[in-house]
Amino acid sequence: MVSNQSEVPRSITLRRPDDWHVHLRDGAMLAQVLRYTARQFARAIVMPNLLPPIRTVDTARAYCARILAALGREAGLHGGDEGVFTPLMTCYLTDTTDPEELARGFAEGVFVAVKLYPAHATTNSAFGVTDIRRVQPVLERMAAIGIPLLVHGEVTDAAIDVFDREAVFIEQVLDPLRRRLPELKIVLEHVTTEEAVEYVQSASANLAATITAHHLQINRNALFAGGIRPHLYCLPIAKREKHRQALRRAATSGDRRFFLGTDSAPHMQPAKETACGCAGIFTAPCALELYAEVFEERTALDRFEAFAALNGAAFYGLPANEERVTLRHEPCVVPERIGEGDMAVIPFRAGETLRWRLIPS
Ligand code: NCD
Ligand code: ZN
Repeated sequence: MVSNQSEVPRSITLRRPDDWHVHLRDGAMLAQVLRYTARQFARAIVMPNLLPPIRTVDTARAYCARILAALGREAGLHGGDEGVFTPLMTCYLTDTTDPEELARGFAEGVFVAVKLYPAHATTNSAFGVTDIRRVQPVLERMAAIGIPLLVHGEVTDAAIDVFDREAVFIEQVLDPLRRRLPELKIVLEHVTTEEAVEYVQSASANLAATITAHHLQINRNALFAGGIRPHLYCLPIAKREKHRQALRRAATSGDRRFFLGTDSAPHMQPAKETACGCAGIFTAPCALELYAEVFEERTALDRFEAFAALNGAAFYGLPANEERVTLRHEPCVVPERIGEGDMAVIPFRAGETLRWRLIPS
C-alpha cells in the first residue's frame, strides 16, 4: 500500500477556533469541565438546558457570571479580550417565551441565539416547545431583529424510528417553518444524516449546520461493538456509515454553511453506566484533535480553519479570532476520566491515542 504519510504536515496553525454548541452545565460540573473548552476555544455558544433552563435575560446574565467566575475572571459580558474565553449565551425557547424579553436580551448583548428543543427530545428538554406553531410570533420577532434560532432537529413522536427522527423533523417541521419565515436565521444543530446535509446544501445562506466530532468519527455500529457502549450514546444518535460519510464530506468541503459545534455534553459516570443512561458524549478534552484526525483522513487540513474558526463566526456576524493555535502531528492520549468518584466523566475515546496534539497559544 502506498503511504501518504509524507504529505501530512508536522503541524498546522490556524486561527483560534470557536465551539458553536457546547454544554457547560453548572455548579461542580461546570467547575470541572469548563477548563477543557476554555483551553481549546476562544468563544462557545453555551446551551441553556440547565434545570431549570435559562429563559430570561437575568438568569442568562447570572449564568454567564458563574462561568466567568469559574474561569477565575471578573463577571462581565462578552469580555472579548485576547487569550481569554468568552461564553456566548443562549435563551431556551418555550411555549410562553416573551418576544420582548428576547429582543431586550439580544439588544443588551446577553443573548446571542435562541435554542429550540422540541419538548422531551433530549436531556433536560421537558420545558421545550410542544408545537412550533405556538411560537410563531416569537420567531417572527427573531427574524425581524436577526437573532438566530438553534434547532435540535428531531421529532419526538415515539412511533417514529429513532434513526429517522432527524429526517422526519426536516420534512415535517423545519421545511414548513423555513417556508413560513424564510428570513429567520437557523442553525440545524449536530446534523447526523445525509438528508440534513443535502437539505442545508440546497437551502439559502440563512440556514447553516453544526457538526460534532463524534458524529464524524463513529457510526451506529460503535454503540454495540462487543457490548453496549453507554458513553457513545447521544442525541441525535449516530446513524449508519453512509450518513457519517456525508457528514465528513460536508465538514471538509469548505462550504461556509457547515461549522464546528462539539455538542460536548458531560454526564456523571453513574448516570451513563446504568439501566437507563443519559444521552451525551463528552469530547471537550480533545475536541480539536478529534476533528483534526478527520480532516487529515480526508486530506483536507487546508480547509480545517474554515470549518473550525471562520464559517461559524461569519454566520453569527462576529469577527474571526486574531489569535492562533497550533496542532502538532504527534501522539496525544485522551484522559481515561476527568473528575473523581461519582463526579467522574468518561471522555469520548478515553485512554486512546489520537494523532494530533493541541498546543494552545
Ligand atoms: C445533550 C445534553 O446532555 O445536554 N445530550 C446529547 O445527547 N446531545 C442535549 C442535546 O444537545 O441534545
Ligand atoms: Zn447539545
